[in-house]
This record gives sequence, structure tokens and C-alpha cells, in this order.
Amino acid sequence: PAPGWSIAADVVVVGSGVAGLTAALRCEAAGLRTVVVTKARLDDGSTRWAQGGIAAALGEGDTPEQHLDDTLVAGAGLCDEEAVRILVTEGPDAVRRLIETGAHFDESSEGGLELAREGGHHRRRIAHAGGDATGAEVSRALVEAVHARGLRTIENALVLDLLTDAEGRTAGVSLHVMGEGQHDGVGAVHAPAVVLATGGMGQVFSATTNPSVSTGDGVALALRAGAEVSDLEFVQFHPTVLFLGADAEGQQPLVSEAVRGEGAHLVDADGVRFMVGQHELAELAPRDIVAKGITRRMLEQDAEHMFLDARHFGSDMWEHRFPTILAACRSHGIDPVTEPVPVAPAAHYASGGVRTDSRGRTTVPGLYACGEVACTGVHGANRLASNSLLEGLVYAERIVADITGNQAENALHARVPEPVPHPHKPAHPLLAPEARFAIQRIMTEGAGVLRSAESLAKAAGQLQQLHTDARDALDENGKTAEPGVDTWEATNLLCVARVLVTAAARREETRGCHWREDHAERDDSAWRRHIVVRLNPDRT
Ligand code: SIN
Repeated sequence: PAPGWSIAADVVVVGSGVAGLTAALRCEAAGLRTVVVTKARLDDGSTRWAQGGIAAALGEGDTPEQHLDDTLVAGAGLCDEEAVRILVTEGPDAVRRLIETGAHFDESSEGGLELAREGGHHRRRIAHAGGDATGAEVSRALVEAVHARGLRTIENALVLDLLTDAEGRTAGVSLHVMGEGQHDGVGAVHAPAVVLATGGMGQVFSATTNPSVSTGDGVALALRAGAEVSDLEFVQFHPTVLFLGADAEGQQPLVSEAVRGEGAHLVDADGVRFMVGQHELAELAPRDIVAKGITRRMLEQDAEHMFLDARHFGSDMWEHRFPTILAACRSHGIDPVTEPVPVAPAAHYASGGVRTDSRGRTTVPGLYACGEVACTGVHGANRLASNSLLEGLVYAERIVADITGNQAENALHARVPEPVPHPHKPAHPLLAPEARFAIQRIMTEGAGVLRSAESLAKAAGQLQQLHTDARDALDENGKTAEPGVDTWEATNLLCVARVLVTAAARREETRGCHWREDHAERDDSAWRRHIVVRLNPDRT
């Protein structure tokens, strides 16, 4: 369908987590006409679920340089050092500005921020809120600020495609909006700057810590628009996700790194602390090492999970420091005060995404990306714990600085974008909603924690078959699945899954969170480089 309505703005921000709302608030403060569009409700994305916190060199004796060192080590040789330097140097002030915006972090008895430790950090540098409910507090503060400042928001708006003008510059986005009065149906926001902040793609796997909205929409849109995407093979599996059964699907409860940061032990079925001796930091090794340690031990013991033992915390500490995790465990019949918690790795974070420079610019003029959807280069092959909220804050602010700088240069306000008529032809045949579950099973089996050429080739073939079936149905009777959020999500998941599998098959080494059974070593001579993908936008 052709867009039925349109509105004009200076900037459209797509997504409403920490990155999107920070960008929107700063754009509005700079006097730009800003519209936020988001697929569900404003607080439905991943930010709300973040537990551990925000890493920044805020503690006495800590420095951005030490934060840089820990980030580079976790990133396993693939971080962009300059991007990390920006993150760790601008991070502390970005956190202070978040506090000014209204977020309340936990304080120590002396009155300063209470800082925690997580995997890969040699220091206590994680600011947290409500014990283990940091994301919920960040989201609350930002959503309240958005309402208080009267920002224009459109909820239940699934972004479809980037609109471009005759010169190929960004001219806005098309949207499918459900049940929002005047903006119901397919429409468009015309703007010369689009900030993608759509979050991750954890739903490409069966078990994930990500909410159901994390379906790779931004990466799929960027690919369809001809933007470059990088490092998609580096999917981070969080080591300690509450184990609810081998066939559990969808969003699973996280058991924060911070629990290990306070001294919880990982033990196997025999009660042995198997991470001791594997890394100098034992349970607090970077996340990829702990996830691999757990998976290896599960394979050795033919076990479905390991255990996180924090009975020694006692009930007071559990209740005050980790109330969210305590409640989640108890709601599933597990009491961490009296018994070890069953845990296993699950998909958690896309270290790769839409490739940007240090100002958040993608390779399509006027299209920006920040937060999990972006690949700024700060995470390399494996993100350091609690660097993601920080990246969202810092790079959102850099994008706004770039847009406002351009505004002076290009008289942004004066340029009314004239999008080339957009027939809104889907670049892929739309998939039936049920395809989502097929994709998740294929990806979990073939492209999960441990991969091989064989498993990836099988996954690639099965994904290709899903695509072929949908295309054949379109060719034979001109019919595709009815457009709607669930069909678009399934279609986007297939798009990102195919690129992810291609990249994972190409990278014939083990590095960071990409673990190949058939190429067990890191190979710096051949693979200290990025896999960058750009689709031909005219091809389906
Ligand atoms: C956690 O609390 O373990 C998650 C932190 C993160 O993903 O950075």
C-alpha cells in the first residue's frame, strides 16, 4: 500500500530505548522538530530489562584508560580503539547528564554512587539502580522526560523502509501503525535525518534475554536501504540465564553478571567450581569465556545447565541487592537463598549491526544508528558487560551534535525532503508469522553458541528454503502473507538470520563470542578484520 498519511519533521528517531530517547531529548533541546516512533509502547524495548547497570570510570582511582583496557581485552582484537576511547572518555559525563535528566542510581552509605563489578572489569565501575533494576529506572526517567517535554511520539509504529530523495539522501521512513487514531495504517514521517535506535535481534534464537520486540528490524531496514552492516556473526550469549527447560522459547530471565561480581560461584553437577583455573578472573572472566566454560562443562557432563551458587549471600543481600532476580527465580519455584540456581547461556546481545563512524553516521547519507542496532566499533568481537547502555548514551549524543552541526552547514530546516515516490514494495516476500519459530529453531541448532561449517551450511539451506517457499507462493498466486507486525517481524528475522549465518560461515576462526568447533583457534593473520555486508537494494 502507498503511505496513507505523512507528517514532516527535522529528525525521526526510530526506537525508544536508552539510545533513541536520549537522541530524541537532545534533538528536542537543540530546537529540532523531533518525532519518536516505536514498535510497541515507549518502554517495551530491551533497555527496561537491563539489570547490571552502566559502566563508566566514575570511582575513585578508576580512569577511562583502565576502562579502555578492559574493553579492548574483551573485544578480542576487533574493537576500534578510537571508538572505545570516545566511549570511555565521554562516558562519565554522559552518565552525569542522565542523572540530571532524572535517573536515580544507588548510592553508598558515604553518599557517592555505589559501584559494582562484572565480568571482564578489573574494577568496580558499574552504576546501578534499584539493586538490579537499572534499565527499568533509566527507561522510567527517559520516558518521563519525553512526556514532560511534550515530545511527539507515535507508538505501535513498525518502521518499514527508509525513504530517500532523488539524490539518494535520507528523506524519512515509512511506517505501519496499528490503532493510533489519525496515524492508523501505512504512513510516513518525512525528515532529512533518521536515527535508527531499534535495538537488537535476540529473537532470532529460541532462548534469549531479549523481549519479543527485538527482531532485528533496524538492521533489516538498513540492509534493504543499501547500508553497510558489520560483525553480525558476533552474537553474545549471556552465560547465566535462568534455565527453564531445554525447550524453553522466547524471553528468558537474566541472572546478572553482578551476582558473580558480588561473589557467586559457578558450579557443575558435582558442585565443582569449574571456572577456577580457566582464567585469572575465574567466574569474572569476560562473558565469552564464561559462556564457553559453561557450554564445555555441559557437554562434558551431558548436562542441560550448570548452577550459580550464591546461597552464602543470605536473604538480606538477595532482597536488597538483587530483588528482581530473586523474584524471577522464586516465581519459577527456585529459591536462590537456599539452593543453587540452574543457569545456561542464551542469546543476549548483537555486538555487530549497522556500521557507523564515530558520529553515528551510517553509509547512507542522513541515516544514523546508535545503541544495539549500530556497530560503532566499541564492542569488537565481544561486548564488555554494561558497556551497552553507556554506548547508547554516548553515541546518541554524538549523533545529535552531528545533526545540529549539519543543520548550520546545510540549513537543514530549509530543506524540505522530497521523497521519491515509494511504491512500498516489500524487498522480500512477506513471511507467515509462524516462520518466526522455524527461524529460531534453525538458528539455535545451527548458529548458536557453538558453530561449525556443517551446522552453518545446514542452517543456511533451511533459511534459503523458507525464503524460496515464500517467494514461490508470491510468484504462483501473487499472494504473500497479510502485512502486519508479526509478518514483518518474521520477514526481518529471516533477513538478519541469513546475513548472520553467512558471516559466521565465512569467519573460519574462533574469536570473542564467535566459537567454531572446526576452527578452534583465533587466527590473527587471516581474520583480524571485519566482515562487512551490503545488499543490493534492488535485489529481493
Ligand atoms: C547483566 O546484568 O549481566 C547484563 C549486563 C550487560 O549485558 O551488559
